[in-house]
Amino acid sequence: MKIFVTGGAGYIGSHTLVRLLSAGHEICVFDNFSNSSPEALARVKQLTNRDFALVEGDIRDASALTRALVEFGADAAVHFAGLKAVGESSEKPLLYYENNVSGSAHLLAAMDAAGCRRIVFSSSATVYGEAQCLPFDEDHPIAPTNPYGRTKAMVEGMIRDWSAATPDASAVLLRYFNPVGAHESGRIGEDPQGIPNNLMPYIAQVAIGRRERLSIFGDDYDTRDGTGERDYIHVVDLADAHLAALDYTGRAAGCEAINVGTGKGITVKELVAAYERACGHSIAYEITPRRPGDVAISFAATGKARELLGWEAALNVDAMCASSWLWQSTNAEGYGETA
Ligand code: NAD
Ligand code: UD1
Repeated sequence: MKIFVTGGAGYIGSHTLVRLLSAGHEICVFDNFSNSSPEALARVKQLTNRDFALVEGDIRDASALTRALVEFGADAAVHFAGLKAVGESSEKPLLYYENNVSGSAHLLAAMDAAGCRRIVFSSSATVYGEAQCLPFDEDHPIAPTNPYGRTKAMVEGMIRDWSAATPDASAVLLRYFNPVGAHESGRIGEDPQGIPNNLMPYIAQVAIGRRERLSIFGDDYDTRDGTGERDYIHVVDLADAHLAALDYTGRAAGCEAINVGTGKGITVKELVAAYERACGHSIAYEITPRRPGDVAISFAATGKARELLGWEAALNVDAMCASSWLWQSTNAEGYGETA
């Protein structure tokens, strides 16, 4: 199948490319490298021994996007491209609406122009907002608490409306929980710019000595050990979920939102302990006040993914930490330094 992959050079995109190429699909990546490196794509080629097309472009540029998609003749699109920093989205909301919402509208219009009717979209568990009940199932109310989350919810609605108006269209909105880890080769992984916002890359940078200690944001939550509990999902399992979702778009018309998580919560302290096992030394941390906006517990209901996609997570927290450590310890500066 010919698959057009926006944002394919990014963290989740690069891991998904490995799976798509290994499954024999023909790929065109469309990325502006605003938060990624061409080196990631070079490594994907090495890992898979496969070549693919690349168009360096911005999804805000409707005509470049349409040209690329029509010329490639895509059967399906996997739409990763977008901005994802929650804090930044509050400081620069219009930048987020422009990239995530307008960019997605351009993609759907380009798909119409190319006669492409299948899409898998990177949504987020952040669309649920504060938990009314746990685990989060797909029917949980949508009430995001920040501009980033609102852009994801808006794009979900836009894709739903597009699929209803487009004969034979099929869309899957994958709501990722907390993607972590790296490819088992350690050749590709997460390479955050600046100070990491998220827990796992922060722990990895403490482990390698780039940062002195982790701040644990609060140990007085109502959880097993008082620290926040999240549903961490191995990025390789997440990549497989995209293959299953693409398959599904070939079998069923319409639009489905589907959680991608393990269904199991892990606390901050449990993740630190797992990382210590993986790297073989202790991780320094201090307890600091809660981060504003954080919830105590978030984890996924996983039944719909099993039922509709036949997919479930296979890799545990030790595999997540071991792969992250292999990537971090062999690429201390991420893609900035060629290992
Ligand atoms: P990433 O930043 O590593 O990848 C995004 C890619 O999109 C990058 O290669 C970037 O250069 C590209 N991009 C951004 N804006 C673009 C534009 N206007 N035009 C063309 N390319 C553009 O992020 P990721 O972690 O791989 O996330 C991929 C998707 O999954 C994003 O949409 C994100 O919101 C969503 N998501 C991520 C997480 C997470 O924790 N990583 C969780 C839930 C949802
Ligand atoms: C964050 C995003 C969310 C996104 C999700 C996906 C915020 C507010 N939310 O959620 O929109 O969908 O990532 O990956 O950014 N923690 C520490 N110290 C740190 C960093 C985090 O103790 O330095 C704790 C947090 O309080 C939380 C847990 O670790 O309990 C996970 O945090 P993080 O990795 O940022 O993910 P989320 O908060 O779930």
